[in-house]
Amino acid sequence: MSHTLRDDDLSNPSTHDHLHDIVERAVALQPSRRRLLKAGLGAAAVPFLSGMTAVSTAVAATAKAAAPAERMLGFEAVAASSADEVVVPAGYRAVPMLPWGEPIDARGPAFKPDASNTAAEQERQMGDNHDAIEFFGFNAARNGFGDRSDEGLLVMNHEYINPEYFYAPDSDPAHWMKPFTAEKARKAQAAHGVSVVHVRRNARGEWEHVKASRFNRRIHGNTAITLQGPAAGQPLLRTAADPEGRTVRGTLNNCGGGRTPWGTYLTCEENFNGYFGWNGERKPSALESRYGLAKDGFGYQWHTADARFDLNATPNEPNRFGWVVEIDPFNPEAQPVKRTALGRFKHENAELVIAPNGQVVVYMGCDERNEYLYKFVSAGRFDRRNPHSAYNRELLSEGTLYAAKLDAGGVAGDRMGGGTWIPLVFGQHGLTAANGFQDQGDVLLRARQAADRVGATMMDRPEWVAANPRKPGEVYLTLTNNNRRSDDNGSANKADGSTAAGSARPPVDEANPRANNVWGHILRWNEGGGDATALSFTWDLFALAGQPGVAGARAPSANINAGNLFNSPDGLAFDRFGRMWIQTDGNYGNVGDFAGMGNNQMLVADPATGEIRRFLVGPSGCEITGITFTPDRRTVFVNVQHPGEIGNHPNAPKRADGKVFADNDIARDPTRFSQWPVKGMRPRAATVAVSRIDGGPVGG
Ligand code: FEO
Ligand code: CA
Ligand code: CA
Repeated sequence: MSHTLRDDDLSNPSTHDHLHDIVERAVALQPSRRRLLKAGLGAAAVPFLSGMTAVSTAVAATAKAAAPAERMLGFEAVAASSADEVVVPAGYRAVPMLPWGEPIDARGPAFKPDASNTAAEQERQMGDNHDAIEFFGFNAARNGFGDRSDEGLLVMNHEYINPEYFYAPDSDPAHWMKPFTAEKARKAQAAHGVSVVHVRRNARGEWEHVKASRFNRRIHGNTAITLQGPAAGQPLLRTAADPEGRTVRGTLNNCGGGRTPWGTYLTCEENFNGYFGWNGERKPSALESRYGLAKDGFGYQWHTADARFDLNATPNEPNRFGWVVEIDPFNPEAQPVKRTALGRFKHENAELVIAPNGQVVVYMGCDERNEYLYKFVSAGRFDRRNPHSAYNRELLSEGTLYAAKLDAGGVAGDRMGGGTWIPLVFGQHGLTAANGFQDQGDVLLRARQAADRVGATMMDRPEWVAANPRKPGEVYLTLTNNNRRSDDNGSANKADGSTAAGSARPPVDEANPRANNVWGHILRWNEGGGDATALSFTWDLFALAGQPGVAGARAPSANINAGNLFNSPDGLAFDRFGRMWIQTDGNYGNVGDFAGMGNNQMLVADPATGEIRRFLVGPSGCEITGITFTPDRRTVFVNVQHPGEIGNHPNAPKRADGKVFADNDIARDPTRFSQWPVKGMRPRAATVAVSRIDGGPVGG
């Protein structure tokens, strides 16, 4: 049976002792035993705890009861749900925190429930639509990166805004956003980017925002950021405001992320094109079309009020987005850096692994229909003896970017095959002046077109990449869905880079085997020799989501059953135990192809057996995205993005005329559909801290 929780049920969380807290108390009594106790929190801890005269018998009994060996899928599956609440397994609690608009620090202004905060206020509050998140534990002195599990920095992305909830209605009854102003554009820009939040677990096991901390920080759409690496200074990166092409204002559409072993955060710019448009006439260039730039963007209207986002006024500004940005959360004064060596495309996440020889490998997907999978391999090698060194901190500045080409392997039709990584290096594989490339910086800036030229494989929307910590060289990729995959010969992205974004309709192939792939799938590959720097690999399909009743070419894989239905896998991450956590951003209509799937959710997979079990379901209209673990795995932080997006939700509110609410309706009645996470208030993106009531490792 599942245990359903929402915020108002959580004001009085369990007072049960956490095993972790019990051990902390025992360690405090006998510090020399810390290593033993922390190593396992298992059988070894029990004799010590039971032998401590200062630890009560009852406490020792609790520890004994909680000591069984950790399991890969040690929880009871939860049922699908369309309710406006977070559902977690029995024995777990899920506590929302850090919602959009919360003051970033002690000086930040309070959130106004009618969404009337100004742009200047939003710059001092949590951004909107939380996405990737990473917990960086403090060191023992609490002044830098370490392995504490009770105190650290949560660093998270804010991908975009939902204007229907983000702006208090203005004077035009037909459109709540109108008249659109420069102040509104700036407020939206302020809600994008990244938040760095100092958090601490208190004696009751609850997480608190340490508001007085100097580490709390907002990085947003107008923060100064350095452009670094081979493309920095390129003519296509220069603007009137930045004639050198080396300093950008802001980071936008921060989707997936990543982390480095030297203690920095990676934030990935995805659909930056949606913020740009143009006033008047313009014939977009091939480069602009290839990255999806269009006259009205995604409808945010910034270009009507801020010339920086009008291509006719500032044509090179879009080229300054679409990068991976590195942030040092422990140095609030440090300017973030856009690492151009990792290429420019619509980045999902950045999964970093250290290869056996010390080279740093970063896997990255480009999320659009029929786009590519990439990896970066650093020129330098990680210095394991000095992990936080200045040398390591520059490893992402130079290296080789590759695009993946997958083949069917020796046996046709078995949904397995091989592949190669093709370098995107100026002068090689047709990336030449004769084909329009100027130099290496130009190749990186136009990485999509470079990958077109070398014949990379068009994929069903590459989302997050996750590397298996228990099996070197094994890597997984979510391919979320693709309604532009054809069952005839279709059309490919043209080698000359002239295809408009998302407009090709390639035929099915073995790695993307379903036309109109509405459910998505998860690809797995193993690098040659288990070495992340290898240039060849073998692949298979770990899961094909779908409906078990469907046979033939659209059938799901055998590990999909009535108890774990989902669609559109997106977020993907391993914990250190080796569980693979899958998060979804899909269709929550719960009918037809999507019947029985309910709201977006999070599942856990056993990579060895293929078993998949549902762990969490989100509230109405949300997606679940971004996950991070404290080093002790006693807390998992998960982000809930865009709760309240109406879409085709079965509980969508209706107007008096029977029609489903449009954006202008919900803007004026913002509590009508969802009130997550605070009852009585408009829905807001937030982080959820998930923990076991008995204090054990989450998932185990
Ligand atoms: Fe921002 Fe592809 O998800
Ligand atoms: Ca094959
Ligand atoms: Ca995503």
